[in-house]
Amino acid sequence: MVGLPARGKSLIAQKVVRYLHWLSIPAKTFNVGQYRRTETPTPSAEFFDTSNTEGERLRRAAAEAAINDMCKWFREGRGLIAIFDATNSVKSRRRWIQDRCQAEGIDTLFVESKCDDESIIMSNILEVKTTSPDYVGQDPEVAAQDFRDRIRNYEKVYQTLDEDEADLTYVKLIDVGKHVIINGIKDYLQSRVVYYLMNLHIKPRSIWLSRHGESRYNLEGKLGGDADISDRGEMYARALPGLVKQSVGDGRQLTVWTSTLKRTIQTARFLSFEKLEWKALDELDSGVCDGLTYAEVEERYPEDFVARDEDKYNYRYLGGESYRDVVIRLEPIIMELERSENILIVTHQAILRCIYAYFMNVPQERSPWMDIPLHTLIKLTPKAYSTLEEQFKADIPAVSTFREKGSSAKHQHSSGSSPSVTASNGSGAH
Ligand code: ATP
Ligand code: F6P
Repeated sequence: MVGLPARGKSLIAQKVVRYLHWLSIPAKTFNVGQYRRTETPTPSAEFFDTSNTEGERLRRAAAEAAINDMCKWFREGRGLIAIFDATNSVKSRRRWIQDRCQAEGIDTLFVESKCDDESIIMSNILEVKTTSPDYVGQDPEVAAQDFRDRIRNYEKVYQTLDEDEADLTYVKLIDVGKHVIINGIKDYLQSRVVYYLMNLHIKPRSIWLSRHGESRYNLEGKLGGDADISDRGEMYARALPGLVKQSVGDGRQLTVWTSTLKRTIQTARFLSFEKLEWKALDELDSGVCDGLTYAEVEERYPEDFVARDEDKYNYRYLGGESYRDVVIRLEPIIMELERSENILIVTHQAILRCIYAYFMNVPQERSPWMDIPLHTLIKLTPKAYSTLEEQFKADIPAVSTFREKGSSAKHQHSSGSSPSVTASNGSGAH
């Protein structure tokens, strides 16, 4: 990462790691600030003045410790993408990183966040910096002033990425992606990361997720298909506009995305917003098991039934899909969601689990087992470093399609011990 303080570098780094984990690409952030805190937990702005020799020595030591750990992490084969998260705001520092990486056979991609909009910087300081561990126990106003002084010290020496560094691979995000400069991208993975970065924005917004109303197949405990919604599903479809209104709180216009299957389209039909159908939102394809109940799957394909329980994320139905396959086909949906503002998605159990897992950072071994009930609207609001979750339940009964490991019951009551959608923080601490 490259950029002055409070330019969203750590946030961008954390989002990229979350996105890569979701795609099964092992990634890790090495935050130099965290290393610096072991020796200097609560520095004041003068610490970052380059004429402060002791400060310079300690900062250099922190960067070295971080890069050493990063190189070790690569050498031990623990991951594919590391993010070296620091300001790296002068050319000499970037050259040092480039040389260290080259010596280790690591490709580099410098990502600069450049932003001169004072109002954004100020709101960033107030949103995340006054509560940073650097200012623990301090008055927020004093902390904000000190952080502004810290930025001034960085500004004195800051060098943006430019033509002198044309041999480096870099992407420069200017004013939160309003302009983007890309230089020397070398491979597919780099271009995917760059494309993801280009889609990020920080406007306030929410994402609403709902399963379709209870379907006739749900009543019979059957998988897949393209059934109509049941009478109770119809009641949910009629209740949904009210539930959405209650959850939106203001007059915001949403866009509704459904799958191409009847049950989601029927569920969304009373919503008076623009609607879009996505094939990519169709339910996980259960192949030869489409139209069967779990009990029938166990009877006809006993080995598959057990194999799926052993590794539900990776298990691919004969002639169908795995959760891993679904994540791959959902990637364009995630990109489009990142670009968009207020979207309501009406989709299916497995698809909703995958989308939810992306936003809430749910690990692969848990996500396919999450209990996401019917007739419930979930509202996710991304905040800096976390995602706020709210649930709005319609008071309309429905069967439970949740299945515990080992069970082939037609309908189960979700057990309290099963992982359900109750987490409230999607990204962890910064
Ligand atoms: P530091 O150098 O002090 O670690 P940082 O650059 O890592 O600072 P963050 O802690 O990530 O900054 O700042 C998070 C804030 O930045 C959030 O309020 C977020 O909304 C905002 N933000 C995210 N992306 C950008 C961007 N591209 N430009 C400016 N601000 C951004
Ligand atoms: O039971 C409803 C349903 O949407 C099926 O169509 C689909 O196969 C299933 O849920 C996915 O859930 P699981 O992966 O837990 O079987």
